[in-house]
Amino acid sequence: MKFKNPIQLLLIVLLMSVSMVRAQKIDPFHYQQQKKVTCTKGAVASANALASKVGVSILKKGGNAIDAAIATQLALAVVYPGAGNIGGGGFMVAHLKNGKNISIDFRETAPSQSNRDMYLDKKGNPQMNLSQDGHLASGIPGSVAGIFAAMKYGSLPFKTLIQPAIELAEKGFSINANQADDFNELKNEFIQLNTSLPAFVKTTPWKAGDILIQKDLANTLKLIRDKGVKGFYEGEIAELIVAEMTKGKGIITADDLKKYTAKERTAIEFDYKSHHIISMPLPSSGGIILQQVLKMIEQKNIGEMKFQSAASVQLLTEAERRAFADRAEYLGDGDFVKVPVKTLVSDDYLKERMKDYSPGIAGNSQSTKQGYIKESDETTHLSIIDAAGNAVAVTTTLNGSYGSRTVVSGAGFLLNNEMDDFSVKPGVPNMYGALGAEANAIYPGKRMLSSMTPTIVMKNNQPYLVVGTPGGTTIPTSIIQSLVNMIDFKMSPEDAVNLPKFHHQWLPDEIIVEKDFNSATIQQLEAMGYKVVKKQAIGRTELIEIKYGKTRKITAIADKRGDDTAEGY
Ligand code: GLY
Repeated sequence: MKFKNPIQLLLIVLLMSVSMVRAQKIDPFHYQQQKKVTCTKGAVASANALASKVGVSILKKGGNAIDAAIATQLALAVVYPGAGNIGGGGFMVAHLKNGKNISIDFRETAPSQSNRDMYLDKKGNPQMNLSQDGHLASGIPGSVAGIFAAMKYGSLPFKTLIQPAIELAEKGFSINANQADDFNELKNEFIQLNTSLPAFVKTTPWKAGDILIQKDLANTLKLIRDKGVKGFYEGEIAELIVAEMTKGKGIITADDLKKYTAKERTAIEFDYKSHHIISMPLPSSGGIILQQVLKMIEQKNIGEMKFQSAASVQLLTEAERRAFADRAEYLGDGDFVKVPVKTLVSDDYLKERMKDYSPGIAGNSQSTKQGYIKESDETTHLSIIDAAGNAVAVTTTLNGSYGSRTVVSGAGFLLNNEMDDFSVKPGVPNMYGALGAEANAIYPGKRMLSSMTPTIVMKNNQPYLVVGTPGGTTIPTSIIQSLVNMIDFKMSPEDAVNLPKFHHQWLPDEIIVEKDFNSATIQQLEAMGYKVVKKQAIGRTELIEIKYGKTRKITAIADKRGDDTAEGY
């Protein structure tokens, strides 16, 4: 095409750039899920399309993976209220381009007025509704402190990172079908467990495409933007949280909020078959379980046994049984209880643990010490890689779906029900007939044991996989399977995430399998003596694979099981 004059050319260039900027702008009312993206520069996989788009927009603005993680996390608090949060907590694991590996613990803590028997009635029976529903179920939220602890590794101003979340809360976004179902199903609980009606309640039923506007949440986010971490833990928001506690018989005080700090921890690191694995230490059990299980199976050549054969499922099941028995007995917040981590992950100990493993014959959980392990599966994970080689994995949670279902009046955000992750009744059989452990008993200021397992796998000193998932106690076992699927069974990232998964957690003594799990394998496992139980879905994994050749090839996969979306450029 020939242009008659430079003005015409200028006009065309101007029009093209305007339409490019338009194309880049996130439209919160029209968007689609994308389950896989291949690209070269950077990628984000998270539980929600708008949040993944926000993350990639930050990368495109020149932000690094930490910046993108912060912006994605804040966006999730708006567009994925079931688990994205500022009223909950979580963990970040990152590999920085300078070679440093970090982990940030922003897990909730027990309030100063909590005590180990606070969820027992006069007869000593657990009242699970109190640890799961409403004001008393909440630990001190850690997410905002975690975000500011991560800021020192970011590069863009905080106001740039929080702006998309503010706009999504203020102007609204179209909810999807699953969210409409959630809001309709939980309507009565939202009414019962709140002192004023939250934005998720309206008179007519919700449907996909309806707009959710969260003005109070937008104001809270603006206060955090303007006043930083103190904008949440002190001043107006803190006062609203304390007022909410007073109205709803909760126990979080102004002093509890003021004293909360996120903690940088030394990440768990170990090698598995020429890969270097970086994951989360206590107070998450995730990294320890990952290391125990992978080290228990490392010498047994699971690759030759083939994916989903009875032999490979049995091997993983028996390793998981042993790791979860240890979890129940020994694991808790290492700042409060002595946990023999070094022994638990040592080669000698793990070899001894597998001594009585008999291929073809089911083990059983009766002879091992018991512990009650119960966690909800409403958590959320985001995986990010940037152009410079920073890799970030963040798993965050309110615990149950929509946490305690209690919104702080006037502040517009949901509080967690994370107190239920403590052993509500240590040492005594619970409602399922299992025992809880002392190491995870409630104590003021203590962090409840978690299973969240944000993980980065390095190969040849470069980030190879960034992975994580929600799923309560199934989190570490899902991650183990995604890793074994790729490292041992040589699967594509897509298959590693999406093919059926299974889980064993010592007690109850059963293998949980997804509904499309191979039925011949189930029959063989039953013949060995295992109880096999079908479950709808295990986890929603976000996995990014990075391959290095002449150019870098990134493949980001968002789990088929949810509304998860992968974006990249
Ligand atoms: N609330 C789920 C976990 O922390 O593992």
